[in-house]
Formats: sequence, structure tokens, C-alpha cells
Amino acid sequence: MTKKTKQPTLDFKTDWAYAPALEDTKHINLKKQYDLFIDGKFVKPNSKKHFATYNPATEEKIAEIAEANEKDVDKAVKAARKAFDKWSKISAKERGKYIYRIARLIQERAREFAVIETMDGGKPIRESRDIDIPLAANHFFYYAGWADKLEYAFPDRTPKSLGVAGQIIPWNFPLLMAAWKIAPALATGNTVVLKPAETTSLTALKLADLIQDSGLPDGVVNIITGAGHTGAAIVNHPDINKIAFTGSTDVGKMIQKAIAGTDKKLTLELGGKAANIIFDDAPLDQAVEGIVNGIFFNQGHVCCAGSRLFVQENVADIVIRKLKDRMETLVVGNPMDKNTDIGAINSKEQLLKINNYLKIGKAEGADIYQSSCGIPSKGYFCKPTLFLNASQSHRVVQEEIFGPVLTIQTFRTIEEVIEKANNIPYGLSAGVWTDKGSKIFNLTSKLRAGVVWANTYNKFDPTSPFGGYKESGFGREGGLHGLMPYVRL
Ligand code: NAI
Ligand code: MG
Repeated sequence: MTKKTKQPTLDFKTDWAYAPALEDTKHINLKKQYDLFIDGKFVKPNSKKHFATYNPATEEKIAEIAEANEKDVDKAVKAARKAFDKWSKISAKERGKYIYRIARLIQERAREFAVIETMDGGKPIRESRDIDIPLAANHFFYYAGWADKLEYAFPDRTPKSLGVAGQIIPWNFPLLMAAWKIAPALATGNTVVLKPAETTSLTALKLADLIQDSGLPDGVVNIITGAGHTGAAIVNHPDINKIAFTGSTDVGKMIQKAIAGTDKKLTLELGGKAANIIFDDAPLDQAVEGIVNGIFFNQGHVCCAGSRLFVQENVADIVIRKLKDRMETLVVGNPMDKNTDIGAINSKEQLLKINNYLKIGKAEGADIYQSSCGIPSKGYFCKPTLFLNASQSHRVVQEEIFGPVLTIQTFRTIEEVIEKANNIPYGLSAGVWTDKGSKIFNLTSKLRAGVVWANTYNKFDPTSPFGGYKESGFGREGGLHGLMPYVRL
């Protein structure tokens, strides 16, 4: 390692014991304008264009972000290709050291990352601080460990790096998704061109800063910003060997078409509409916590959100009453307040989309119920919402809303609930709540979902694979399985 690691400066003055007011976020060292991170340096975009990123809780502009065009993408891919020659020849042990170093630097700067994540995307600070940022560091730690053990991951085979990976990520878990993408790619000796989502680029750019400080060889990770046009330029670039995409099913399908007939490898992690199933023998209070966590975590901007609740008929009344009571206790508002449970909706567009689904659900005849909480007059907010008496054919049941909106259906028999849970275009995740292990085994084998949680929900760990069936995409991220899409065997 040639470059010396710069001692990280803690430029965030707030202690966690104290919830920062929105104005205190001024202590965060943000630039007014961000350029593209290519070949180890921040460079002006060829497009000469920048666009604004906003704080969705205040509607205030935070910073300007560069918009990369085809020429910028080409420059980033060339840098990644040049770096690949060197990176793929470095010893695996040395590669692992760099990845460990990135993990440690994320931990050291965790507070700053958490505050920026919350400012830029609207998620509660408690979630950025306790979940997103620590998990992002853990992904780097986990894959750093694999770097020099690939022959054990693939016994009797010779795993070879692919080359340059183009990675496109969404806005719901910005730094965490960057970690999910970059860590396994580096561990397997690939180089990266990553594009964060246009509403939440700041933590990826902060990661670029950190990567510079880590001494990682120039060009191994390039981070370029922009919207769909930039993403498409990455997908269509002829010198990219692999595309990893997380985002909407519509864009996922477009990407699949665009690379058909090329030899690019592809993984897609797309939408979901998970069934969260409560049996009458479940510990009901715990199940209610699981329902709340399943749908209201991160404002419901979660691909694996438990957005369809199925309650066994004989306990439906009591579960719904407990759920309504619990919803009254949820604090909706300032994401920077550590007591906030539900923060801001990520963007104006997403709020419009959610509000439109609220209208659709009502028009379809489901009964809408919202908690009596107030919401701030400024910023993009949505009250936690239930659709009672929803039916299988309702659009609010079939389509991904990606907001704090839960549909509720009841069932009598296990066969009926399996049928309904599977009768959907998606197959990413599901939850089962019951006292009986045999029921859990029965359901986990019959539900067409990549992840099935039993008596818990939204639990993530770098060691466990994640991914879907049907329109939820293909390929797995996380765990040993997460190495597979980045190697040729
Ligand atoms: P999106 O799929 O358009 O955005 C995801 C990423 O793809 C962003 O980085 C975006 O810039 C990029 N992108 C957009 N068009 C592209 C193209 N043609 N080629 C390559 N990259 C492209 O998602 P969007 O519009 O932000 O959200 C719309 C809906 O998608 C949400 O309401 C939600 O239902 C769903 N969604 C699902 C996610 C998931 O994790 N399952 C994540 C984000 C959105
Ligand atoms: Mg933003």
C-alpha cells in the first residue's frame, strides 16, 4: 500500500445523546457542489451540468451533484478497466486489507454518514445510526474476509474475476446498497463504476472521499452521479462485464432487454410485495411489533417490506385493534430527532405516488385507516396507513406502493393463505408468525419468496443471501452466494 491513510477528522460536533435539530446539521462538512469520482480524483462532469439534491424533511436544497453523460461514463469505465489490470493481480490478502480498511473508516466516520444519510433521504436518524451505517461497515468486513479464501468458497474450481462491474443503486438504503454492491465486487478482484440514485447521492460521494483516504488504488472504485440517463449509459457501455441493479421492476426489465445478446452478466434486485402472515397461535403482541416494523421501517421504502398483512380470521379483530393502538404511539416527523419512528418520504415524486395509491385504494372499496398523528406542514410526509378489508384483486394489494401503507386481508386455512400470498407478480420476501415449527417449515417451503422470516421481520445480516423470484429479480446478494455473480468459474 503506497498512500498513507489520512487521519479521519470528526467534523460532526453533535453527540448522540442529543438529538440534533435540523439547523444543527450545518455542522456537517458538506460541499456546495460535488463532482464525479473517477480514477481516484474528483473531476468536473463533461456535461458541465449539476443538479440539486434536497432534504425531503425541509424541502431545502442541500448541495449540487454532477450529472454524468456518456463521455463521463466512458471515462469512468476506462479508469476501471485500467485499474483492473493492477487490482486483479494484487495478492488476495492485500486486496482484503484494503476492504478491511474501508470498513474501519466507515465505522470511524459513522456519525457523519448517519447524519448525511438522514438529511439527504429523510430516514429516521435512529435507523441510519443503528442499522444502515453499521450494516454497511459489516458488509465490507464480511467480504474483506472472503478476499483470500475464494478457493474455499468455490472448492475444486478456479474463480476468476469478471472485470469491470457497473452498479446502479436505489434511494432507500443509499450507503448500505453501495456496500452490498462494492464489497463483493472488490473481494473477487473486480473494479467498479457505481451510480447512486439521484435523490440520495451524498453518502456515496462521502464514501468516495473515504476511498481516497483509504489508499485504494486509483480507478478501482469510481462513483459517478446522475439520473436514469446516466444509468442507461452504464448499462449500454460495451466495455462493462457485469451489471448489478437494484431498483424498480420497470427499469429492471428495460435493463434486461438492453443487455440481451451481450455477454454482460446481470443481477437484478427489484420490487416486492411481501405477505406477513399471522396465525392464531402466534405471540400476538410480538406479531404486532413485527407488523409495525415490517411496514413502517424506513417509511415503507423497503423492497422486502411486509406490505400485505394476512391475519387468521379468529384473531383478526384483536390483532387489528392492537395494531391501531400501536400506530397511535408512532412518532412521525423530524427525521433528525432520535425519537422519530417515521421520517420523511424520500422525494416529492414518491409522495405523489403514495398519495395516488391512497386514492386508488379508496376508490377500489378498501377501508382506509390512518393514525391520528399530525404531520409537519413542510416537507414530504405520510401518515401510517392501513387498508382494511382489502381484496386480492385490488391494485393496492397487487402493486408495490413503497410507502407506509399496509393492506389487510384475513384467511381461515393454511392452504388459502399460501395461495393468496403467492398470487402476486413478486417473490422477494415473506414473514410467518406462529408458535408451531411445523407450520413454519411448511410455509417456508411453499412460499415463493427469496427470504422468509419466522417470528421476526426485516432482519439483515451480511452472511445471509438476499434476492427474489419472479418479477422481484434474480441473483443473490450477501453471504457466500453474493460472491457468485462476480466470478467466472
Ligand atoms: P428507479 O428504478 O427508476 O431508480 C433506481 C435506480 O435506477 C436509480 O439510481 C436511477 O437513477 C436508475 N435508473 C433509472 N432509470 C434507469 C435506466 N433506464 N437505466 C439504468 N438506470 C436507471 O426507481 P424510482 O423511479 O426512483 O422509484 C420508482 C418506484 O420503484 C418506487 O416507487 C418503488 O416502488 C420502486 N423502487 C423499488 C426499489 C427496490 O429496492 N425494490 C428501489 C427503488 C424504487
Ligand atoms: Mg436528497
